[in-house]
Amino acid sequence: MTRVFSGVKPTGHLTLGNYLGAMRRWAAVDQHEADALFCVVDLHALTVEHDPARVRRLSRQAATLLLASGLDPDVCTVFVQSHVDEHARLSYVLECVATDGEMRRMIQYKEKAAREQRRGGSVRLSLLTYPVLMAADILAYGADEVPVGDDQRQHVELARDIAVRFNQRYEHTFVVPRATRPEVAARVMNLQDPMSKMGKSDDVGPGIVYLLDEPDVVRKKVMRAVTDSGREVVYDREARPGLANLLEILAACSGGSPEELAGAYPSYGALKKDTAEAVVEVLRPLQERHKELCADPGYVERVLRDGAARARGMARPTVDAAYGAIGLLPAV
Ligand code: TYM
Repeated sequence: MTRVFSGVKPTGHLTLGNYLGAMRRWAAVDQHEADALFCVVDLHALTVEHDPARVRRLSRQAATLLLASGLDPDVCTVFVQSHVDEHARLSYVLECVATDGEMRRMIQYKEKAAREQRRGGSVRLSLLTYPVLMAADILAYGADEVPVGDDQRQHVELARDIAVRFNQRYEHTFVVPRATRPEVAARVMNLQDPMSKMGKSDDVGPGIVYLLDEPDVVRKKVMRAVTDSGREVVYDREARPGLANLLEILAACSGGSPEELAGAYPSYGALKKDTAEAVVEVLRPLQERHKELCADPGYVERVLRDGAARARGMARPTVDAAYGAIGLLPAV
């Protein structure tokens, strides 16, 4: 059976981008068709300036939202990264295989390092080695597939390179993973700045639809989305990025393709209205389930405890094998 691994980072409230780009397929497809693990990657949240209490809060919220999105702990494994030591254990060994040059070429590193510096902070070493920890997340479980949005594809490519290099240099230890992406909405853009990704850690709040936004807030954000001054509704990502973003969101929420939908709308106003309603409807069941789960925190804790135990059992043999292959004595 195909093994799938993916994760979300608790650095902000989860967004419509997280949902359409990744989470929705995890619940609808991956958990049913594969042996799947989904992880709240809290260690990754420590790579930038953060408030410890907020990271804890957001980790719990992200886990609750994963379950609210439809992940069923009876058919997949949901857990928190720091609860399974194997991630950090393997990450160090992979740092001995990855190179400094590879890390510095990562687009997200360059963007995030620049942002930290703009904010007057210093760049943490863990931000540079972030993709190695991510490779460890994936390789520890022998994942064949990693369902992610487009912004994570470069990191998954790096995990592939590291796996291939390790296997060639030492012993065949790792499955070589590949990224998978949704057909539409693999890169949902900020509604106020359609040239930038809708990112949960960004500052432009009005351009970001959060999964827990009230329906009226969602409507307001979508109706105020920046488009251009044209009249005709056409799907053209280069020339009309704001409009293309709305068409992709609508296609992802209601079916159909962005091209077909473009032909069906006489005006921007009608498109925005339908997009807003489609998003509200997609979020409604998730928000209802989230409310129920918040009333039963013990359940979420049990799921995470069981998930971590299962994940540990899956990761340990591979990580032990990697330790042996690279030249470390087995512990006695
Ligand atoms: P994160 O937390 O930024 O995002 C979680 C998932 O949501 C996708 N995504 C988007 N997709 C489309 N449009 C957007 N605007 C958008 N924003 C986010 C991301 O591509 C991702 O699939 N480094 C990862 C977390 C991670 C991970 C892993 C993922 C750590 N280890 C191992 C897969 C496998 C991250 O920061 O995702």
